[in-house]
Amino acid sequence: MADFWKKSVVYQIYPKSFKDSNNDGIGDLRGIIEKLDYLQELGVDIIWLNPVYASPQADNGYDISDYFSIYPPFGTLDDMKQLLQESHRRGIKVMMDLVVNHTSDEHIWFKESRKSRDNPYRDFYIWRDARGYDDNRKPIPPNNWGSFFSGSAWEWDENTEQFYLHLFSKNQPDLNWENDLVRRKIYDMMNWWMQMGVDGWRIDTCNLYSKQTAFLDFPSRDGEKYVISPMYARGPRIHEFLREMNREVFSRYDCVTVGEAPFTTAEEAIIYTAPGERKLNMIFTFEHMEIDSAPGSMNGKWDIAKLNLPRLKKVFEKWQKTLYKKGWNSLYWNNHDQPRIVSRWGDDGQYRVKSAKMLACILHLMQGTPFIYQGEEIGMTNCRYNLEDYNDIEIHNAYREIVQEQKTMTHDEFMEAVHKKGRDNARTPFQWDDSENAGFSSARPWLKVNPRYKEINAEKDRKSPDSIYYWYQKLIRLRKEMEIITEGDFNLLFPDDEDIFAYMRTFEDERLIVVGNFSGKTREIELDGQLDVYEILLKNYDERLSISNRITVKPWEVFALYRGAKIA
Ligand code: NOJ
Repeated sequence: MADFWKKSVVYQIYPKSFKDSNNDGIGDLRGIIEKLDYLQELGVDIIWLNPVYASPQADNGYDISDYFSIYPPFGTLDDMKQLLQESHRRGIKVMMDLVVNHTSDEHIWFKESRKSRDNPYRDFYIWRDARGYDDNRKPIPPNNWGSFFSGSAWEWDENTEQFYLHLFSKNQPDLNWENDLVRRKIYDMMNWWMQMGVDGWRIDTCNLYSKQTAFLDFPSRDGEKYVISPMYARGPRIHEFLREMNREVFSRYDCVTVGEAPFTTAEEAIIYTAPGERKLNMIFTFEHMEIDSAPGSMNGKWDIAKLNLPRLKKVFEKWQKTLYKKGWNSLYWNNHDQPRIVSRWGDDGQYRVKSAKMLACILHLMQGTPFIYQGEEIGMTNCRYNLEDYNDIEIHNAYREIVQEQKTMTHDEFMEAVHKKGRDNARTPFQWDDSENAGFSSARPWLKVNPRYKEINAEKDRKSPDSIYYWYQKLIRLRKEMEIITEGDFNLLFPDDEDIFAYMRTFEDERLIVVGNFSGKTREIELDGQLDVYEILLKNYDERLSISNRITVKPWEVFALYRGAKIA
């Protein structure tokens, strides 16, 4: 069906932490199969699997050593085929993660490439000479490009005496997209999966493939040794490459594509997602996720600023309006790289349930394709572990750089930031029930279970009609029933209000007003217009809500008011 993804809701599965079927402490494909009924009941249309390919797991699967096989602890290709079959039987499509900006350093291409300068695979990666040598005869990297995982983006290879480029960890060398054969092999691999029955792709860092091939230094600030620049996303051939990928793969199937696109503005998103561009269906933007990082800090995302709600609203307004009728966007609060939203911008204590519902409603009633990250639908929260209990390479590399080398944060300050922003907050095992290890596994899980599992788990939520789980189920259903949610335009209300996020959607004669309180304060607001013709579509407090122009909004309250023909 054309554009099926516009009315779809995607559920993201982090396989390592979803469900362990063979009790080795690591989630797996058969575990996902066991839980498909749970997902069907929730009502999601598509699942996106984080990488399941063979991988040494330096970055939890974003370092792929073989695109044609499955990471053994996750299962086999037969398990994958069965997962596709069982999902399709339930009307659920499956998206794979496409990681082709880089491979693992254990991929056969890289093993060959590093053997000698004249190896046939040498040019599959990006190799450059040292810029010179320092006083200790240590080679100096070719330029000042920084890695997203700390330090220089270049790693010295003793054997062939050149540097290779890695925008992520040194175990993730960047592929050379200028090489036609590299691209050919990538498209062949994608077609192989598509023919197996995969329904689409979430495309990792889809806008970083095309490099600034002069490899010049980026402008830097005082004291900044290595620079991570938006220029990474402005490579001269990026749009050509994505159009080629579309022509060679996507255009041949009825599939769904979402590209992860850091550094991208709403205007640029049109160039990626407008149908006439023939590239991607939608992207993952980062602008709303960067609102609580202190700008220009030496400590990157670890310097955390308080949420400025007017700024957050402005970002959403800009994306909603700019893409309207031109492109398409994804909607997300959470994924495997972000902390849990109820801990981040909600209240994960007294108002956990109310604030989780408020956040869900504000997001899901906008235009776009919503993504639910596993556990979000039961209001899973951040965790507070000691440094050694974390697994994430980003946390450990940043600790070394910021606390031990730069000394721009103390240990305690850094740990506080990890508790708020670390990626492992999202990666703790799924909390299925209140039994040992939260019902995830009977063995010790690869990452500690969040100690709140007795209070927060899926079994408990499914027993209570008033739970976050059923709230999400309702939001998913409404998206299918109501055209205004997919098609309506967007107008922000009270843009400067520091507590209230409110907007109105309009579609022909229909109206949808959504009001959410991002605070624990009780607030009075004045709504314009004739409100007695509206009905209450959703509300997260039991008490009667009387609709009038002057409304009292309780702590973390959300409600949606609707006027017009409900069923499309
Ligand atoms: C983005 C992925 O979401 C993240 O988890 C990963 O570390 C990087 N890309 C590198 O592949």
